This record gives sequence, structure tokens and C-alpha cells, in this order.
Amino acid sequence: MTEKPAYYVTTPIYYVNDVPHIGHAYTTLAADVLARFKRLDGHDVMFLTGTDEHGQKVEKSAEKAGVDPQAFCDRVSARFQDLAKAMNFSNDQFIRTTEERHKKSVQHLWKVLQEKGYIYEDKYAGWYSVRDEAFYTETELTDGENGEKLAPTGAPVEWVEEPSYFFKLSAFEDKLLAFYDENPDFVLPRARLNEVKSFVKGGLEDLSISRTTFSWGVPVPDAPGHIMYVWIDALTNYLTAVGYPDEGAEAYKKFWPANVHMVGKDILRFHAVYWPAFLMAADLPLPGRVFAHGWWTNEGQKISKSLGNVIDPFELIESYGLDPVRFFLLREVPFGNDGDFSRKNFVLRCNADLANGIGNLSQRTLSMIHKNCDEQVPAPGSFTSDDNALFAKAEETLEVVRGHMDRQAFHLAFDAIIGLVTAADGYISVQQPWALKKTDPERMNTVLYVLADVIRQIGILAQPIMPQSMDKLLSQMNVAERGFEQIGEAGRIKPGTAIPKPEGVFPRFELPAEEGEA
Ligand code: ME8
Ligand code: MG
Repeated sequence: MTEKPAYYVTTPIYYVNDVPHIGHAYTTLAADVLARFKRLDGHDVMFLTGTDEHGQKVEKSAEKAGVDPQAFCDRVSARFQDLAKAMNFSNDQFIRTTEERHKKSVQHLWKVLQEKGYIYEDKYAGWYSVRDEAFYTETELTDGENGEKLAPTGAPVEWVEEPSYFFKLSAFEDKLLAFYDENPDFVLPRARLNEVKSFVKGGLEDLSISRTTFSWGVPVPDAPGHIMYVWIDALTNYLTAVGYPDEGAEAYKKFWPANVHMVGKDILRFHAVYWPAFLMAADLPLPGRVFAHGWWTNEGQKISKSLGNVIDPFELIESYGLDPVRFFLLREVPFGNDGDFSRKNFVLRCNADLANGIGNLSQRTLSMIHKNCDEQVPAPGSFTSDDNALFAKAEETLEVVRGHMDRQAFHLAFDAIIGLVTAADGYISVQQPWALKKTDPERMNTVLYVLADVIRQIGILAQPIMPQSMDKLLSQMNVAERGFEQIGEAGRIKPGTAIPKPEGVFPRFELPAEEGEA
């Protein structure tokens, strides 16, 4: 047997200063759908997520909670692991930057960068934002209402002066620009690549990569008092997880470089500028892509702890069930754009596409088969051109979905699947199987067979986004083989397959009461 192609997809590792919210669930969901898709499409997948546990922000949060930093990290990291279970994420690993294997890995990378001459010792004097864990130049700052300096993100900054090691980022300007030109899909969406390029063209200053004014971090090798800047620590997690510094490790050989780093637009600069520069400096291969998705707001407002409007994914799942939540998040907003979360849109979308779409199509068809065909898939007669057209559409849908998935255009991929449901609905209206019952039962059998097989294919195709519901649907139909090689003729459902009385897969939701009406 030939070896399966490898596919490595990662999420950001989340800061443990705060409990998970919908934004964290969103990024990991996108990576999960991609990972599940690639597995079903014959790849050997490594899907990594985890938590980012060092740095000043986490140290301060632990202090505020009156807990030792490691105990604090353990507690919050566990919430992210709970989220992964609640969201049914299929991550192969959950990495924590406080793990020993990771400390070794970053310290090794540091030494390599040092040996290659890209690290030097000096003094940092400049602006720092603890909230963003980022350094800013004077020109990037704006004045706040009370004359205080603010980062472009709106985060407060403070003046910092301390001994520090620097990474020679300035040496990589031309190399990075050449790399972006040779790899125009390195950053998606395309508009984001332009942002990255203009940042680099604006000139890169060397990057401060060690801190000396606090202690919650990975110690810099042979430099007492210095801990690593949290971003060099964090980014290296992607290497650690596949076995770095052991470049002979099976996982490393198989999975590095990563295919896609899934991130939010807020951390694009770190992934598309600093990270490739570190890797170039260490002579390591560069990842295939950084996809920077957009930002969720809640009913029109920025999601923030201080506004008290954080959307709790656990609560949403509790209210609506998991798969509608998974579906809505990735179907509603073109992936890459900002999106606004509204319960009304949630209900409208799920009712239209799920309850009235896939749910209704399968419920109607399976009930008809159960009632009229002896509780089993009927044997078809010869296929008409209408039948073959619907079969062909199902097969084409896989191709279309594959193309969109390769560019992380989830919304378009689901459009294509919903388009197949619509086509099947149209086929029912034209063929009218209920009328055929009396006039031409043999033709009715053929029509119901075609529908059963197309529903099978819809179930297979929709597994990455709604694994539990599609499992329920396919199990009801006694479909055991569920990989994408089963799409089309190869996997046609067998006449005689038992079809029990179907159970609904998707509930219909009530619209929420209008504001003020409640
Ligand atoms: O930046 N909408 O961690 P973080 C969409 N530790 N996505 C959102 C979101 C929102 N409103 N809020 C958060 C860090 N996110 C670093 C990463 S990686 C080596 C280190 C998501 O906890 C989005 O993916 O601040 C964003 O990039 C990430 O959470 C930031 O998580
Ligand atoms: Mg953040």
C-alpha cells in the first residue's frame, strides 16, 4: 500500500489568562473541519491545538487570582481541553508550553539561532503592551482620551527599558519579500498578504526576544536573569509537537513543515513575519500557509470581558446542540471576513439549511422508504437521465468541496453541499415519488433508491462540519463505509439495506423574542 499523504494543521495556542470564548472555539473549529476533511480524503493528519502559558500577562493573571502560576495554568488549560471535548474537536495533540519537551525545543532553537549569528545582546528601550504581548514603535501608537499612549489594537502600552537579547529581524526584509512573491498563497485571504508586505516594506527593526523584569517564562540558555519573549516560545510549539529538536523523529519527517497555521487576523504579523524569519534563520522549512480569519462581534458589539458580552460556547451548545453551532459559525460568514453573532440569524440559518434542508430531505425520503418499500432500500430499475444527472451532481460536489477546502473557503464548501440538498429537493418535486406509488411502483423504487444514495453521499460529505448528526444519519441508513472514496458509484447503497423508522436529525428552533418584547 502506498503511504498516505501527510497533512499538518495547527491552531493558535491560547493564552490562559482567560477562559475560552466563542472566538477560540471558532479558530479551532475551522482547523477541526479541515482535519476531518483531510482524513476522510485519505490523508494522514496531524491536528494540533493547545495553550500558551508563559509571559507577563499570564503571570499577572495568576497573581491577581492569588494562585501559583503553574497551578493557574493547569486550571485554565483544563477549560480549553474541556472546550475541545464539548466541541467534538478531533485534535491529535493538545500542547502546553509549560511542558518539558517544549522548553527543550525552544531552548534548542534559541541555540541554533545564536550559533548562526542571529542573536545579540543589547538593551531594549521602547513601548510594550502586556495585553498584546507585543513591542510597538512610537509611530504605531495613538493618543487615548486621557493622553495615554495606545497600541493600534487599542491596548495600553508601557515604556520598558531592560537588558535584552535581540533577533536580527532586519536581516530578513528582502528574503521575506521574495518569499511572499514566490508564494502568493502563503497568506490567505489575499488582502491580508498585502498588509503583511507593506509592513515588511516599511522596514523591520530587530526584535527583542528576551525579558528580564519578570520570571514566568522559559530561561534563556546560559543567560541568568533572561527569560524568552513569549512569542518566540509560543510559535515554536508547532515544531515541538512533531518532535523538534529531533529532526529524525518520525512525526517531524512526516509532518514538518505544517500545511496550514490557522490564526485570527490579530496575530498575523507574528505568524507571517516573525515566524518565517525565525525558521529561515534556523534553516528550517517554512509552513505552507497562514490563514488569518476575521473577528466575531456579538449582536454588533466588540466581544469583551469588560462589556460582559462574551459568548460562552458551552452555553450555546447547551441551548442548541453542538452541530448547529458548528455549522452556523462556519457557514454564516465568508471565512476570512468579520462576522456578527446574532441569535436571530442563528435560528434562521439553522432552520433553513438544517431542519428544512438536510433534515427534511432525509426524513421525508427515509419515511417513504420505510413505509412503502418493506423497511429496506428498494432495488432500482434502469436509471433515467434525471437520475444520472443527480448522481453526477453528487460526484461533482466532492470535487467542488475539495477545491474550496484547499483554500479554506468553508462557506463555499458548505454552499456546495447545501446546493446538492437543493438539487435533491428539486428532483423530488419533479419525480413526485408519492404519486408514483399507484401509477408506477417500479419507477417509485428507482426514484427512492436514487434519493437514498444521494442522501448517503450528503451524509458523507457533511461529516467534517457535523460529525455527530451525520453519524446519526448514516447509522440509521446502515452505511458503514464513510470515506470520500465511497462518493459516487463505488459506494452505492445496497438494495435490501434495512431502513428503520427514521429519527429526525435536526430540530427546528424558535426565533428569539425581539429586544424589549421579552
Ligand atoms: O494570541 N473572533 O492567544 P489568544 C474570532 N497566545 N477569533 C477570536 C476572537 C474573536 N472575537 N477572539 C479570539 C494568542 N479569537 C497567542 C497565540 S500562537 C503561537 C500564540 C481567536 O488567547 C483568534 O484565533 O489571545 C485569535 O487569533 C486567537 O483567538 C487569540 O488567542
Ligand atoms: Mg489575544
